Amino acid sequence: MCGIVAYAGEKQATSILVDALKRLEYRGYDSSGLAVLTDKGLEVYKTEGQITNLETKLPKIESSCGIGHTRWATQGAPTTINAHPHVSGNIAVVHNGIIENYQELYDELKSEGYKFVSETDTEVLAHLAHMYYKGDLVDAVIKGLKKVRGTYAAAFICGDSKQVVAARKDSPLIVGIGKGENFLASDVTALLKYTRDIVYMHDLEIASMTSDKIDFFDFDGNPVQEHTESIEWNVETAEKSGYPHFMIKEIHEQATSVHDTMMGRISELTGEVMLGEIKLSNEDIMKLDRIEIIACGTSYNAGLLGKYLFEALAGIHADVDISSEFRYANPVLCESTLLVAISQSGETADTIAATKEAKTYNCRTLAITNVVGTTLSREVESIIYTRAGHEIGVAATKTFTSQLIVLYLLAIHFARINKRLDVDRSKRLLVQMKQLPGIIQQILNNKELIKKQAVRFSKARDYFFLGRSLNYPIALEGALKLKEISYIHAEGYAAGELKHGPLALISKDTPVVALATRASTYDKMLNNIKEVKARGAPVMAIACADDTEIQKYVDAVIRVPVTDELLYPVLSSVVLQLLAYYSAEDLGCPIDKPRNLAKSVTVE
Ligand code: F6R
Repeated sequence: MCGIVAYAGEKQATSILVDALKRLEYRGYDSSGLAVLTDKGLEVYKTEGQITNLETKLPKIESSCGIGHTRWATQGAPTTINAHPHVSGNIAVVHNGIIENYQELYDELKSEGYKFVSETDTEVLAHLAHMYYKGDLVDAVIKGLKKVRGTYAAAFICGDSKQVVAARKDSPLIVGIGKGENFLASDVTALLKYTRDIVYMHDLEIASMTSDKIDFFDFDGNPVQEHTESIEWNVETAEKSGYPHFMIKEIHEQATSVHDTMMGRISELTGEVMLGEIKLSNEDIMKLDRIEIIACGTSYNAGLLGKYLFEALAGIHADVDISSEFRYANPVLCESTLLVAISQSGETADTIAATKEAKTYNCRTLAITNVVGTTLSREVESIIYTRAGHEIGVAATKTFTSQLIVLYLLAIHFARINKRLDVDRSKRLLVQMKQLPGIIQQILNNKELIKKQAVRFSKARDYFFLGRSLNYPIALEGALKLKEISYIHAEGYAAGELKHGPLALISKDTPVVALATRASTYDKMLNNIKEVKARGAPVMAIACADDTEIQKYVDAVIRVPVTDELLYPVLSSVVLQLLAYYSAEDLGCPIDKPRNLAKSVTVE
């Protein structure tokens, strides 16, 4: 995940910027850079890879004002050219976020004569500020950003004065206040060594920072009063934004990550999904007669929902295979098959090998992944990035819900082209999707209720998760999450399978989580709940907020806000992540690093 730092003071800016950037390394990055003001004017240094590469490249320079960045690529490969800062004339910018109307701005700036050198959306910010700069950087930044749709935390400097101008919208940015020096960063961790007096910037706010002064403005240029807070956190707590574990931090980030995954890809006004990154023409899509999904673990569970969506919405037959099985099977693929490889890391050995195997059949290939520039991305024709940000906890959480979102988008896109989804239904679905971030936040606000249930059953030896149709993959994912971090044995089942064996295991000692949100199979699900209740099992249901029936049959209900029937899997996933987290927390497990597991499985 990208990181921003900035400094204005009397000390050596380069060493402070490099040190502050190193404190953001835990967030993950693939390149870094800085821009400083020296006697010669603006100087910019950037490199791929480790911050130590940047240090090696830096000459001995005198400077007391500058901006720095660690980039985690989301658009454009992780190269030196794409690394920040980006420059236009004597203005440089570092940026976290996504510019939604990039293409529009790119075209406009091109027609004004601006030349683009990188593949990043950030470059438009440098040119916009340059275009409006008439000696007042605050004014130029405001005018430029007023044209931007998207998210940003951005810091600008100009060769003309020792001043940093920063702005934020939906991406964190904080100012650190020192004595005769001031700081800026996207994450408090970067600044703790230097100051504990912090101002958290608000959305659509501009800061102008010099060594002895910080002024805040709104987007009309009016001054804004801000309050300084004193931070007590140590570095470890700060890295987790005050949460005890990365996993719970990442669970909470989902309102934002789901939003970022959708950003610029949805038009609820026209009912269209825009996935410019896929290299399949409408004719190619109409010719597809089968989708083969390959993935491992949590990504496989996402793939199972993908199968349901591709078939239900787009009318394209889909299969899902575990990569380690697929690579040694005898797959039947041809030119009209689309292989969809799902992998958050893009480095899972089995998924890469399975993709290579599939390519020998000349099928079309597409990857859904969270990391730019990985081995998997080099193997496929099209890539859709999930944009969930760097995930540190071993258990996949925000990357999973972002994978689900991409699968919805892809299925709706295919369905529109195949004329299987009319405009009105598509619009309604997309409107509901746009509301998911807010709904996820409501679930997170209710986490104490989920915690109560988790603690109540944390001493159980076995747990069962039941779901039908599109809830079945989420039952599997709920079980996987619980066993991986709490070490409680858990099974996910298609509820209709119970009678075919597993019912023998159900007793008063086996808590059952029933995914009973609204679906065409709801009544069948109620019957399955009655079956397990009759065997004495304590049942916890995940149900819709307006369900007045369910509480008659279960011991506890965790309610989720009402949405489109197709979208409940996203909401139930968040509930089950919290259930797993609080169970593991109650048992004192090492949540972020469960035994025997690694974040990226690069061996077979
Ligand atoms: C579980 C988990 C794993 C991964 C699996 C595939 O929480 O994270 O099951 O989903 O190892 O990893 P990727 O998606 O990186 O291919």
